Amino acid sequence: MDSTPDTSLLWIDHLSKSFHLRRGLSSTHFLAVDQASLSLPSDHHEILTLAGESGSGKTTLARMILGLIEPTAGRLYFRARDVTRLSGAERRTWFRREVQPVFQDPYATFNPLRRIETYLYETAINFRVAKRSNADEAVDRALAAVGLSLREVHGRYPNELSGGQLQRISIARALITSPSLLVADEPVSMLDASLRMSIVNLFRSLREQQSVIYITHDLATAYYASDRVAIMLRGWIVEMGPVEKVLGSPLHPYTQLLKSAILQPDPDQQVQSKIVLSSSDSDDYLQVGCRFAARCPRVLDICRRVVPAETIVDGRMVKCHLYGGSDERQNGSLRTEHVAGQSETRE
Ligand SMILES: Nc1ncnc2c1ncn2[C@@H]1O[C@H](COP(=O)(O)OP(=O)(O)O)[C@@H](O)[C@H]1O
Ligand code: SF4
Ligand SMILES: [Mg+2]
Repeated sequence: MDSTPDTSLLWIDHLSKSFHLRRGLSSTHFLAVDQASLSLPSDHHEILTLAGESGSGKTTLARMILGLIEPTAGRLYFRARDVTRLSGAERRTWFRREVQPVFQDPYATFNPLRRIETYLYETAINFRVAKRSNADEAVDRALAAVGLSLREVHGRYPNELSGGQLQRISIARALITSPSLLVADEPVSMLDASLRMSIVNLFRSLREQQSVIYITHDLATAYYASDRVAIMLRGWIVEMGPVEKVLGSPLHPYTQLLKSAILQPDPDQQVQSKIVLSSSDSDDYLQVGCRFAARCPRVLDICRRVVPAETIVDGRMVKCHLYGGSDERQNGSLRTEHVAGQSETRE
């Protein structure tokens, strides 16, 4: 990649996360994120979308970026600092202020028995943005950025607000610390279709103040929201570049298939033409060669044997044998020179 840790807000190099997979009596491991490399610039703000079907590793990558889980291998830098080596105090007082999450389900974010504004005040006080006596201003400022005010939400409980308002408030909570990066994991997928665009528009307006990693399985909002898009498939980034390139004229057969699914004019057809998942997504993860080979309409012989290399074609990265060379390593092998982490098992 051209960027360096010093010139980037976020710099990720061959980042991987391994999970254990139990199959009957045996156990193996697979890479839920496999050597992902991407960066965000430090001299301007961007919205980078991670898009791909369910089970492609988007949340796992987001959780590593947020420092919530340890990478198994690879490098992860934020403002030229190795995130995996921050002390507990640096993590709490600096990193968590700088990189804030917005989660998927606004209904699950808030306890129904607590007044909404308590979350905002707690964030302001816990992160030392303000003292209890003068937190009103910080809270009101964050609410104003999402089109609300303290007067409107004061004294109200979650069930008195709509899903769209709750998601705005959870974004306001994330903004209280004035972060440099928001990581929003499927922030509109629980909302009515009619509300989605207003939240996507909100992210676009927030880009004035910070960069955003927007995660979605919905290519339509990805198209509208992003400056750049990374398409994820079974732990790999298979195509990445400016949105007008990647979604305007996709090169990777998987991106092409995703795009053709949203171009169906009839909404019922759209649902039917969604890409069919294989019976077990872990089969794709463990497959030798390209992880899309079992579903790819343009599959070649080599695809079933050799991992495709990442190649730059027409202003974007694409990982496919149709465009470039091969990655000689064995599928599923790990580069472990950077971070020696542990595989994790789902409980
Ligand atoms: N803690 C875990 N333990 C084992 N497997 C996991 C764990 N978390 C996620 N996975 C698996 O990793 C893959 C990627 O999951 P995820 O990152 O949640 O994808 P996405 O967000 O794109 O739906 C899936 O096969 C999922 O089942
Ligand atoms: S490498 Fe082969 S199987 Fe994979 S997307 Fe490209 S053509 Fe299809
Ligand atoms: Mg997810």
